[in-house]
Amino acid sequence: MNASVSSPSPPRDRRQSRVSIVGAGKVGSTLAQRIAEKNLADVVLLDVVEGWPQGVALDLMQARGLEGHDRQVVGTNDYADTAESDVVVVTAGRPRAPGMDRNDLIKTNAGIVVDAAKRAIERSPDAIFIIVTNPLDVMTYVAWQATQLAPHRIVGMAGVLDSARLQTFISLELGVSTQDVQAMVLGNHGQQMISLPRYCTVKGIPLPELLDAATIDRLAERTRNGGTEIVELMQRGGAYFAPASSIYTMVESILADRSRLVSAAAYLQGEYGIEGLFLGVPCRLGRRGVEQIVELSLTNDERHAIQTSAASVRDNIENAKQVLGWS
Ligand code: LAC
Repeated sequence: MNASVSSPSPPRDRRQSRVSIVGAGKVGSTLAQRIAEKNLADVVLLDVVEGWPQGVALDLMQARGLEGHDRQVVGTNDYADTAESDVVVVTAGRPRAPGMDRNDLIKTNAGIVVDAAKRAIERSPDAIFIIVTNPLDVMTYVAWQATQLAPHRIVGMAGVLDSARLQTFISLELGVSTQDVQAMVLGNHGQQMISLPRYCTVKGIPLPELLDAATIDRLAERTRNGGTEIVELMQRGGAYFAPASSIYTMVESILADRSRLVSAAAYLQGEYGIEGLFLGVPCRLGRRGVEQIVELSLTNDERHAIQTSAASVRDNIENAKQVLGWS
């Protein structure tokens, strides 16, 4: 055969979407794998550890033929390589150790997230930002402040994950396909998260018609501790498969302009009676980012629960501002 390949890495076709992932830990690396192997976009995987993201990227590239895709995965320590990203995902920072609350991470992670967001926005001024680092409702706020992005262009991941966990537990309890279960979890990604059984359905049937209140409470409690249960089991690090799938769902809805209605940490400007912070609410994700926030009608108890959740985020934003020397 006479054919030759002139360049081992041909110039990138700018019609391809590009997703940059800051932080090449388990969540970031698994997300890179999902995005590339599902042929969604080219991926730039950035980490401060020299060699690590390059190694992960090369490993993913070597699986391209076997997985049947042609996406580029680039590993780097240099933000210049993230230029012109359509979506930037920030996963950088420390995960929880057993016995820790997510808010215990503010001290270590606030500075890391601010630095990452600032550097990334310089190179990709038009990107949509998804913040994953914990405590993510608070980290989304500090990243927003650091980047001065329009609020609809920055969103925190977690309602998708918390809802997916409840969806799984409902399907296991009832012995029905997960596909037929819809679950809705709002509020912060922490102890004040709120499962809304009235808005959970199995093929359209409201959950309270299928399970008694005590069982629903048990599933909601397991959901609230969904991440903690895994941290306690693994002892080193935490969940990453379901978190990566959750971020993938958000990235795909944005890039493909699918307008998926998901629960995610969006900036509230009076919705649910809350203002000036990011909190898990149902929102529509499309090419412009958060295209719409949906306001559900809530009972008094549910309304109270979401206020409590917002108050906890507000307190922790104050902690983060102190850590960052912003107040
Ligand atoms: C969890 C982490 C992502 O809930 O907070 O598993």
